[in-house]
Amino acid sequence: AVAERVADLLARMTLPEKVGQMLQLNARDGVRHLVEDMHAGSILHASPERVLEATALVEKTRLRIPLLVAEDCIHGHSFWSGATIFPTQLGMAASWDPELVERVARVTAVEVAATGIHWTFSPVLCIARDLRWGRVSETFGEDPFLIGEFASAMVRGYQGDGLADPTAILATAKHFAGYSETQGGRDASEADLSPRKLRSWFLPPFERVAREGCRTFMLGYQSMDGVPITVNSWLLDDVLRGEWGYTGTLVTDWDNVGRMVWEQRVHVDYASASAAAVKAGNDMVMTTPGFFEGAQDAVTKGMLDESDIDQAVRRILTLKFELGLFEQPRHPDPDRQAAVIGCGPHAAVNLEIARRSLVLLRNDGTLPFADPQQKGKTVAVVGPNADDQHAQLGDWAGASGQTEWLPDGHPRELTQTVLDGVRAAVPEGWTVTTARGADILTVGPDPEGEFFPDGQPRPHVVHPCAPDPAMIAEAVALAETADYVVAVVGDHIELVGEGKSTATLELIGGQVALLDALAATGTPLIVVLMSSKPLVLPPSALNAAAIIFAANPGMRGGQAIGELLLGGIEPTGRLPISFAQHSGQQPTYYNQVRGQHGSRYADLSQRPAFAFGQGLSYTTVDYTDLRIEQTEVTAADTLRATVTLHNTGTRPALETVQVYVSDTITSATWADKELKAYTQVHVAPGERRDVTVELPVASCTFVNAAGVRVVEPGAFELLVGTSSRDEDLLRADFNVSASVRG
Ligand code: IFM
Repeated sequence: AVAERVADLLARMTLPEKVGQMLQLNARDGVRHLVEDMHAGSILHASPERVLEATALVEKTRLRIPLLVAEDCIHGHSFWSGATIFPTQLGMAASWDPELVERVARVTAVEVAATGIHWTFSPVLCIARDLRWGRVSETFGEDPFLIGEFASAMVRGYQGDGLADPTAILATAKHFAGYSETQGGRDASEADLSPRKLRSWFLPPFERVAREGCRTFMLGYQSMDGVPITVNSWLLDDVLRGEWGYTGTLVTDWDNVGRMVWEQRVHVDYASASAAAVKAGNDMVMTTPGFFEGAQDAVTKGMLDESDIDQAVRRILTLKFELGLFEQPRHPDPDRQAAVIGCGPHAAVNLEIARRSLVLLRNDGTLPFADPQQKGKTVAVVGPNADDQHAQLGDWAGASGQTEWLPDGHPRELTQTVLDGVRAAVPEGWTVTTARGADILTVGPDPEGEFFPDGQPRPHVVHPCAPDPAMIAEAVALAETADYVVAVVGDHIELVGEGKSTATLELIGGQVALLDALAATGTPLIVVLMSSKPLVLPPSALNAAAIIFAANPGMRGGQAIGELLLGGIEPTGRLPISFAQHSGQQPTYYNQVRGQHGSRYADLSQRPAFAFGQGLSYTTVDYTDLRIEQTEVTAADTLRATVTLHNTGTRPALETVQVYVSDTITSATWADKELKAYTQVHVAPGERRDVTVELPVASCTFVNAAGVRVVEPGAFELLVGTSSRDEDLLRADFNVSASVRG
C-alpha cells in the first residue's frame, strides 16, 4: 500500500516539488523561504517553534507533504534543556554492554520523538584511528567488531519495533565510509583509502547495520581515490546498494554537494555537482540550497534524467508514509515532553551507563577510599574539569542537561559534576574541599588571520593558558591538608568536535604543572581524566595512586565517579581504545597490521600507555586452563573454548572475558590479533568458575590481497584474557582445514 501511495503522490508532483523533497535545509536560517519557495522535504536544527511554524506553512502548500525533522541526537537529545544526556559513544563503549546501549538509544528515541523530531544522525560507525582527530568521542573506539555490536544495538534502540511506533525514530549510520582515516588527525582531510583497506576495517560495521535494517546512511565528506564519497559509485552502487542490497535512504553530510564545487573543486557548477550526486544515488541533500536550482538545471540541460530524481523522492516519501506522518503528524508534544524528558526511569538508565563507562586504569590500593566509616577524612577535589558541565557532557550536548528553569523562574543545575558527586558520596563527617588549580585555554582571535577554504575568516582559535602559580598554590595547600586529592583534568569542549582536531594530545594549560605540584605533596593523588579521548598523561599522573578514565560521562557522571571513589560501585569499564605514550606515537590502535622492520620509533616503543581492553576491578580475577574442545576444525564449525576464572579478592567483579584470534600465517599482511567475541560474567569474591565461549570459525576471516574476505586454512591461535596485551592473554592452538567465503 505504501508503494501505491508513493507512486500516486509522485505522479502529481512537479519537478521543483520533487527536487525540493530531496533538500534538507537548516531551519536556523528561517523556514518560510525553505518551505514556500524551495518545497524542502526536511529540516534540521529546528526548535519546536520552528517545527510548528514550518508545519503550518507546509499545510498551505499544494500537496501538503509533511517534513522530516532531523537532529544530531547522538548521546541523548542534544538541543533540549533538561533532556537526558548520556556519556558519549566512547564512554558508552567502555561498558562493553550493547544491551545497555540499546536501552540508552531507546530512551533517546522516546525523548527525541516527543519534541517532534523524526530522525537522528546517529550512530557513528567511524573507527578511531589517529587520536588527534576531533571526533574520537563520537566513536565507539578502535575495534570494528565492537563498533558493529554497539551500532547495531543503537539502531535497534532508535528504530524500536518499527517506524509505525510513535516513539521510533530513524537511525543513521555515519559517516560512510572511511571518514576517520585522516591525515595527521585533521578532520575531513583527504584520506588514503583503498578498497582493501575499507573492506578490512571500515566497512564491516556498516555492512552489519545495513543488513539489519538501519534506515538511513550518511555519506562522509572525504574522497576515496580522488572521487568524493558523495559520488563514489564503487562504494554506493557496487558495494552498498549492490553487494549488500541496501534499500535505505542516503543523506549527504553538510553541503557535500556544494563542496564538490567550492571546496574539492571537482565540479564546475551546481548543475554538474547535483547531477552527479543524484546519479550516484543520494536521496537527501543536506544544506546545499544551490541543489534546488542545480538539479533542475541539470534536468533541463539533459545532464540528468528526471527518473533518477523520482527514485530518490520515492525513498523519501516512503519514509514519510512509513512513519505515518501523513495521517498522524508527530509534532512537538508538550504533555509528552513533560512526562518523559529527563524522567526518573531515564535518569536511572543514565546512571547505569555512567557507572559502566568509567575505566580504572591504575590503582595502588588507594581506591576505594579507606573505610568510609572512619570519621574526619578530607578529600580535595581540584582541577579544571572537577566542576565543569561542558567537559562532563561532551560534544553534541548543546543546551541539554544543564539547567532546568523552575516555575518560579530560578535555574536548577541538572548535571552532577564530580565535585557534586564526591560531596554526595562521602560519609557524614568527611570534608570536601575544592580549588580549580589550573585553567585550560582561552578562545580568541586567530593571530595568523587564517581563512577557511570557502574564504570565511576563522572565527577564533584556542590559546592554552599558562600555569598560574597562585591557582596551583591554592590547590596544593588543600592537597597538603587532605587525605586524598582527586584531580579532574582533561580537555576542553573547544578542542572537541567537527573541525576541532588537535595537533597534540598532551594536557594543556596549567594542568601538567598542577599535577606535578600535587604529586609532590605526597598526598595520595587520584587522577580523573575527563576528556573526549585518550590523552597523553605526564609521569606525575602515570605514577599517581590511581587513574580513572571518564570519557565525557554525561549528566550522571559526577555521581558515578563519587560512588566509584568511595567504593559504592565496582569499576567494570574496559578501554574501547588505546592510549598513546606520546602525541607523535600515532596510530596506537591494537589491531595494526603486523610490523615490519620500521614499525617502531627509535626513541619510543610501539606499546601504548594503556591498551585496548584494559581496565581494573577492585579485585583480581585470574584466568587459567584455556582449553578448546575440538582443535581440528573446518570453517563450517563452531569453536568451543573454556577458561577458568578465579576471583582471588574480596570484592565482586564483572569480568569482560575477551576473545581474540590470531591467524598465524596469512597470504597477505594482516593484524596480529583481532577481537572476535567477548562475554561479561559476574565472579563473586573467592569464586572459581568456568566460562565457555562459542566462536563460529567462519568469523576467523581476513581480507586477502584481492580484497576478498576469506577464512584461510592453516594454524590459528585463540587468545582469551583481560585485555589485548599479550601478557593478559592465554593462548590455545587450533587448525582450520578448509576454506570458505566469510
Ligand atoms: O550529522 C552531522 C555530521 O556528523 C557532521 N556534519 C554535520 C551533520 C549535521 O549536523
